[in-house]
Amino acid sequence: MASLTIRKLDDAVKTYLRLRSAKNRRSVEEEVRVILRELIEGREEPLTPFAVPPVPSSTPAPQRTGALPEASVTLIIGGGIAAYKSLDLIRRLKERRIEVRCVLTKAAQQFVTPLAVSALSHERVYTDLFDPQSEFDAGHIRLARDCDLIVVAPATADLLAKMANGHADDLASAILLATNRKVLLAPAMNPLMWNNAATRRNVAQLQRDGVVLIGPNSGEMAEAGEAGVGRMSEAIEIANAAERLLRPPVPKPLAGKRVLITAGPTHEPIDPVRYIANRSSGKQGFAIAAAAQAAGAEVILVSGPVDLDDPAGVTVKHVESARQMLEQVQAALPADIAIFAAAVADWRVANEGEQKLKKTAAGMPPLQLVENPDILATISKLADKRPPLVVGFAAETEHLIDNAKSKLARKGCDWIVANDVSPATGVMGGDRNTVHLISRKGGEIAVDSWPVMTKEQVAIELVAHIARSVTDKSLEPAS
Ligand code: CTP
Repeated sequence: MASLTIRKLDDAVKTYLRLRSAKNRRSVEEEVRVILRELIEGREEPLTPFAVPPVPSSTPAPQRTGALPEASVTLIIGGGIAAYKSLDLIRRLKERRIEVRCVLTKAAQQFVTPLAVSALSHERVYTDLFDPQSEFDAGHIRLARDCDLIVVAPATADLLAKMANGHADDLASAILLATNRKVLLAPAMNPLMWNNAATRRNVAQLQRDGVVLIGPNSGEMAEAGEAGVGRMSEAIEIANAAERLLRPPVPKPLAGKRVLITAGPTHEPIDPVRYIANRSSGKQGFAIAAAAQAAGAEVILVSGPVDLDDPAGVTVKHVESARQMLEQVQAALPADIAIFAAAVADWRVANEGEQKLKKTAAGMPPLQLVENPDILATISKLADKRPPLVVGFAAETEHLIDNAKSKLARKGCDWIVANDVSPATGVMGGDRNTVHLISRKGGEIAVDSWPVMTKEQVAIELVAHIARSVTDKSLEPAS
């Protein structure tokens, strides 16, 4: 089988490989393998990655999709007897869907072999700062930055000292100096070394530098008859600590709260085939539902006819008309928070045709309109089941703030999110929104004007405001 020396390839091909492998977070060698495999399977990527900009060092590593977001770790294995536990650590990280690329110091290779580490990580193992194959594209910089976290296990006294003092005379220390990622150290050494004043100074310096430490634990040492603090944490403890750093628990400020939201237009039938509608897309209400769900709330979304996918984890009730919307809203009570983002049709046809209305010589059929129930006002004025926080929207084409203020008073809600829906703003059906949050503050009416944002950002901001206000006792239900 012919072997390929990457160093001898054309510069253009090298650049292509370097960019593509960096983008896909693979070693160049692995990337070549993938390209060949894709060629054989007839699904190669178009040869245009010269346009792919190199990832700037300060950019956070991209999140990939999947049930759990995948993450990647560069694992530096130091030279100590605890290195055998790092083999288990690789497995523990991989079962948490964390990719692992390993670096072995020279001393580590006395305890574990690159072959064993490579077999467990399914990746090539890096050992040498001056390895021509990985260094033609500054491999130590990629190992330092093309990951989400660096784990050092075992972190020997020597590695701690090098790191605390900024040495870079081998691959491991060069990576630790070149990284802009979080670093997790799992120290392992003899208790006397751990307690030595030099190590204490180095540990204190590293903690000041923002490095995270796990362990060491206390227990028996490999050295016969010795015990104390210095045992490396167990692989499972290190993997859990790495996972906490990689996937910090998302705050759920609305956990335990039930949020009711209306969204979209309503369709008011004229006859079985025609209806009165408006231009609402439902995007703002759906974005609020998704943001509230992400904040931990139980969300019930009552939506008029829209062309949007139901947000994940949200109970969606699909309706057509204003009266159906009111019915579903009432059925969904009680709720802690109600947000009325729907563009409800103000009128419906009183004399809805049972059959399709036909053109006649007598001219146009007379359509009699009657007013629809005002869902927001109805819920705001409930005596018993009124949600403690009721938020309405005001869609205006003129006198935005004045009209919104009078809507707040007329409807009896707590807040109004006012937005200008004049055609020139592109809000109706568009992706961006400029809103003003109008609320009562101790007898006064406050207007908080937000900059132009995407509807998702407006939703996140609104949910953040709600989360802050639900901790305010004044909005808690009276007990
Ligand atoms: N709303 C409602 N039921 C209606 C009409 C409106 O729940 N029948 C709610 C909307 O969801 C929004 C608020 O009331 O939260 C204001 O809606 P908007 O269309 O701006 O105002 P209208 O009440 O329809 O008044 P106008 O058309 O005169 O501006």
